[in-house]
Amino acid sequence: MTDHFDLILKGGMVATPGGIVEADIGVKNGRIADLGSLGSATAKDIIDCTGLHVLPGAIDTQVHFREPGLTHKEDLSTGTLSAIAGGVTSVFEMPNTEPLTITGPTFLDKMARAGEKAFCDYAFFAGGCAENTHLLAQLERADGCCGVKIFMGSSTGALLAAKDEVILKILQNGTRRVAMHAEDEERLKARKHIAEDGNDVRNHPVWRDVECALLAVKRAVALAREAGRRIHLLHVTSGDEMDFLKDHKDISTVETTPQHLTLYAEECYERLGTRAQMNPPIRDKSHRERLWAAVQKGVVDVLGSDHAPHTLEEKAKPYPASPSGMTGVQTMLPIMLDHMNAGRLSLERVVDLLCHGPQRVYQISGKGRITLGYDADFAIVDLKRQMTISNSWIKSRCGWTPFDNKKVTGWVQGTVLRGQVVMWDDEITESARTRRARGMPVRFQELLTKAAELPKEHVHISGIECC
Ligand code: DOR
Repeated sequence: MTDHFDLILKGGMVATPGGIVEADIGVKNGRIADLGSLGSATAKDIIDCTGLHVLPGAIDTQVHFREPGLTHKEDLSTGTLSAIAGGVTSVFEMPNTEPLTITGPTFLDKMARAGEKAFCDYAFFAGGCAENTHLLAQLERADGCCGVKIFMGSSTGALLAAKDEVILKILQNGTRRVAMHAEDEERLKARKHIAEDGNDVRNHPVWRDVECALLAVKRAVALAREAGRRIHLLHVTSGDEMDFLKDHKDISTVETTPQHLTLYAEECYERLGTRAQMNPPIRDKSHRERLWAAVQKGVVDVLGSDHAPHTLEEKAKPYPASPSGMTGVQTMLPIMLDHMNAGRLSLERVVDLLCHGPQRVYQISGKGRITLGYDADFAIVDLKRQMTISNSWIKSRCGWTPFDNKKVTGWVQGTVLRGQVVMWDDEITESARTRRARGMPVRFQELLTKAAELPKEHVHISGIECC
């Protein structure tokens, strides 16, 4: 009997866990049902992938879509549209939103909005701070929660856990891996005058220097050991931190970003002004090279985009009033394919950093690999296609990218979300536009046993009530 599938991807070079091989993929009910030579099998839809590579859909574990919005310029719909345009099929949204995602009701509100709006799969972080440590063990077990996130140093928004006692208490409440933005708040405050002197964005990496990041990373690892809790260090930006972290891989996983692997000081600040401003900052070429060494030697587990869609109007404020952050979810995969074509890493390592790594670090169920039974999430890429990234291509509502005008080799031809084609040839498909294909919460292995009842309690932070 001939097999019948909902979708067959035919004749592509497929990034399987065993290597890159020519294969057909058969999809049924949103999952990968068969892999190999499918011969005369039939399907409702067959996509000829000859000449293309089929990768697992990329998982961006650090985005700031701001639902319901700090600036009201981006939200989950425009953010996730940008994701699928760039081959990203799952996103993890950070908690420094307004209101902050630090209580049961705020978390549930986000989940409810996401169901209506998201074009790709999603999960939300719960923010950890002094005021909600007692809620975290429950919050981190909510359906759709990817874990707790801490800001050790101030960035965008009011979320902060700067002191060792608070961080330790957060680490002692719960069991899942805690994601950390590691910059030392005391040092940031003591050196703020550097940023305020002369309105010069080139001072951004001088103010938020390597020592500031290294101090915080060392404290984070010491506190994680004291609490016996796994941590994940977000956007690590310097060679010094990588040298330290290579000896602490038992307890800490490591992220860096495509921006830190691509841009460098002072060139980026001179060319892009405050558009190159993000936290932690883009550093000089020597750190960029050491980040690449950390990628090549396996110290880096995942790449996250830290997509932070501040508008150009906001960015035009004189530094340091200009907000930190840049878009990234849509450009992450093309930028990394371009690096692959330039010989800086293999395609297998791109897949490891954007798919397998997130699955491993966050214990995601059924995503991040092209394996029987896994979700049929794919980024179908043309490794040889040459394109120029432009602001007009960006779906994010702020409409700009630090990579505007950059020529890249390697482009995302199509995106498939649980068996439905949601982007093809730079067009969002009808099934995505009419919401036949829509985002669902990402599932996690640690939540398979029971999802928690969420606490109903409200908390007060810096005089604001967060409900
Ligand atoms: O540059 C940044 N912007 N870094 C962060 O950690 C936060 C982000 C934002 O939320 O705007």
